[in-house]
Amino acid sequence: MIVLGIETSCDETGVALYNTEPFETGKPAFLGILGQGLHSQIAMHRDYGGVVPELASRDHIRRVLPLLDQSLDQSGLKLADINAVAYTQGPGLAGALLVGSAFAKSLAQGLNLPSIGVHHLEGHLLSPLLGQSTPQFPFIALLVSGGHTQLMKVSGIGQYELLGETLDDAAGEAFDKTAKLLGLDYPGGAAISRLAERGRPGMFDLPKPMLHSGDLDFSFSGLKTAVLNQVKKFEGQKMTDAKAVSQFHADLARSFVESIVAVLVSKSKKALKQTGCKHLVLAGGVGANTQLRNSLNEIALKNHFQVHYPPLELCTDNGVMIAFAGALRLLAKNNGSTTSGAFDIKPRWDLQSNNLS
Ligand code: KG4
Ligand code: ZN
Repeated sequence: MIVLGIETSCDETGVALYNTEPFETGKPAFLGILGQGLHSQIAMHRDYGGVVPELASRDHIRRVLPLLDQSLDQSGLKLADINAVAYTQGPGLAGALLVGSAFAKSLAQGLNLPSIGVHHLEGHLLSPLLGQSTPQFPFIALLVSGGHTQLMKVSGIGQYELLGETLDDAAGEAFDKTAKLLGLDYPGGAAISRLAERGRPGMFDLPKPMLHSGDLDFSFSGLKTAVLNQVKKFEGQKMTDAKAVSQFHADLARSFVESIVAVLVSKSKKALKQTGCKHLVLAGGVGANTQLRNSLNEIALKNHFQVHYPPLELCTDNGVMIAFAGALRLLAKNNGSTTSGAFDIKPRWDLQSNNLS
């Protein structure tokens, strides 16, 4: 079965064609990726310091068709070869979701194909199955993106249990807001990570929020405020030496990354212990973070569990993960998810409410 995937939930337009045959015959799932096109709107939103929903929607309209052509060219397939269309139904920006949903459904209707609405986070949390080492069910998923921070127990396709989540800012949001405080462009996650590499360890005693809360929830807004306080204190010193300013930013970035990584790693370890799972997957944009990956690898060795990552290019939003998650849902019995002609997007959507019975 060839599934077309369309992702338009936020500021990336992603289109991909996925063949389920390798997965169904026990071969590595990534062999099914036949073609893909991705356009990031980051440059367009940068001047505004964040995503402007209306601009995002309009840009998805401009990009989606050329990206479909690109994916078809790359795969050597024709529209007539597609067997189903998967699209991100939610959560995300309403206008942006509507573009993908309208496009996917119109195409499906025109080609007389089934269409399936995919939960964006399901796309992220199944994407490590497209990596080199695949996790075994049940596993724990640490989902860290710009909009979400969640620990989920994944017992199978469509079998998700929320174990803990952030009470305020998402991890990616904390990275982006802190980046802004350190004078970096939006979205600053990757830039902070690079800056932190030049920083000295332990220069600032930043909080590690909810490290000992006893549960699996997170909170990151206090950490961002602690960074802001350090920035204000430093500005009060009226330092003009560019080298000193740059070193201050690098040291603070390092302490910030150390704090956030310590909390994410500790809670992941706790989730594994609590559930008895031996496999952890890291997914979502923050999953591209080097320091987090290094720390998880280290802890995994010491604690005898395995960590799995999606291919680096599939950490941030993309069409492949939507095509793949949609394909696995379509292969599952009683998936109950193929959608009607209505534009039924779900800008707010709890993943567990979409579990398979
Ligand atoms: O999953 P994603 O592409 O979009 C959402 O679904 O939200 O995640 C985007 C987030 C942004 O906050 C971005 O700053 C963060 O992922 N990010 C990173 C890195 N690369 C992207 N954060 C930390 N380190 C990175 N290397
Ligand atoms: Zn995402």
